Amino acid sequence: MIFIKKAVEILRAGGIVALPTETVYGLAGNARDPLAVQKIYEIKRRPAINPLIVHVNSGEQADEIAERNALAKHLSAIFQPGPLTILHPLRANSGVAPAVAAGGAKIAVRIPAHAIMREVIEKSGLALAAPSANPSGKLSPVTAAHVLAGFGENAPPVLDGGACTQGVESTIIDISDREEITILRPGTITAEDIFNAVGIYPGFVGIDAPVSAPGQLRSHYAPSVPVRLNVTENLQADEAYLAFGAPQCAVAPDLLFQLSEKRDLTEAARLLFQGLHALDQKKPSGIAVAPIPQTGIGHAINDRLTRAAAKD
Ligand code: TXA
Ligand code: MG
Repeated sequence: MIFIKKAVEILRAGGIVALPTETVYGLAGNARDPLAVQKIYEIKRRPAINPLIVHVNSGEQADEIAERNALAKHLSAIFQPGPLTILHPLRANSGVAPAVAAGGAKIAVRIPAHAIMREVIEKSGLALAAPSANPSGKLSPVTAAHVLAGFGENAPPVLDGGACTQGVESTIIDISDREEITILRPGTITAEDIFNAVGIYPGFVGIDAPVSAPGQLRSHYAPSVPVRLNVTENLQADEAYLAFGAPQCAVAPDLLFQLSEKRDLTEAARLLFQGLHALDQKKPSGIAVAPIPQTGIGHAINDRLTRAAAKD
């Protein structure tokens, strides 16, 4: 465990640290240092084709990296700092290591709202490349303990900021030249939020879309045991249950995790990865999940659950 001053020193020296954000913990390094970026890919065992999000503190700092169009700036003014990531054309003289964008022409930029993350960005003066701080394909971390458990003896130094308040990764959007907005990854900023803000209803890229979409592989966010969705009855022997409201089936108390007794989707999103980690650690035969309504933030929850349940 480290503190802000130490995290800044490590980052400025080209090292990697895990940091809290309001969504999930990130595995951060200097986005303009090719060796630091390479270390991020290595620690995560992330395929080189899967680009990273750059984290900055302001629109001005974003403009040093990205060619932001008027709609992008407008959306940024409304939702950033916060859990929205926007794809922009990469600025020619950005200085960002090409591997951050996986060699592509677009760069994903996020302005996090978390006080610790913001202070680290400010004190370091750096733009930080940061994927979620978990080994590629595994559950995203929403506590420092999840980061340490996920990487084991290869864990980077972790700055502990407690549990993340949003609990699922940022909403990622792309904006076309014709001002169409596409949600590449749903998050706690919903399609309705975007429509209400700018009057454009975003399209979605579904889970079976071609592999240029984020999240890439269908199988993602995977616990170590099989996941079954939309289960209301007939649990299997030693199967754990992720509930949303009072369970309709009989569940052993120690194999039950409640996402939201009062069926509140914001609370369920915040607790989703907490619940998956907690149940996974009990080594059940599998994890069965209650149906989650496909509205608002339910899209983000069901996206992560569908990927957790996918076998390929
Ligand atoms: O909330 C978040 O976004 C967290 C925190 C740490 O900020 N970060 C995060 O990063 O979730 P990661 O790497 O786990 O997920 C980012 C997703 C990946 O699926 C990647 O494919 C996509 O964003 N992505 C990044 N840059 C992209 C680009 N230039 N074009 C298309 N997709 C991109
Ligand atoms: Mg991730």
